[in-house]
Amino acid sequence: MKILVLNGPNLNLLGTREPEIYGTETLADIEMKMQTIYPEIEIEFRQTNSEAELITWVGETRGIFDGIIINPAALTHTSLGLYDALKAVADITPAVEIHLSNTHTREEIRHKSLTAPACIGQIMGFQGFGYTLALRALVHNLSS
Ligand code: DQA
Repeated sequence: MKILVLNGPNLNLLGTREPEIYGTETLADIEMKMQTIYPEIEIEFRQTNSEAELITWVGETRGIFDGIIINPAALTHTSLGLYDALKAVADITPAVEIHLSNTHTREEIRHKSLTAPACIGQIMGFQGFGYTLALRALVHNLSS
C-alpha cells in the first residue's frame, strides 16, 4: 500500500511554530513515527508553501498512490482549487484531512474547511499524533 502525506503552507516550521497550538514535533518527527508504526506501508511525505504545487501533487496521485493524508494548513479555509483536485481523484484515491489543532476552538475563519467535503473523513486536535490516527483510519478504509 502506498500513501501520500501532503502538508501545506508553514508546516515546514513545525517544532518552533506556536508550539502551544501545534506541539513541539517537527514534520520529520511525525514522518518517522508514522513509518515506525506502519513499516509495511510505503509512505511518501511532502510539504510545500505553494498552493499550485499542492494541487498538482493531488492531481498526480491517480494510479500511483492508494490514498492521501492531507493537512492543507491555511489552504483548508481558502482553496476551492484544492477541493476540486481532491474531488477529481476521490473515486480512486481517497483522502483523510488532518489538522494538528482543533480549528473549531480557534478564530471563526478557521471553522470552515473548503477541502473536507472532498475527503472521506477528518481528524483534528491531537497535534502530531493525529497523523498516525489518520493513517490508521485510511488503512482501515482501504482494507474494507
Ligand atoms: C492547521 C490549521 C490551519 O487553520 C492553519 O492555517 C495551519 C495549521 C492545523 O494543522 O492545525 O496552518 O491546518
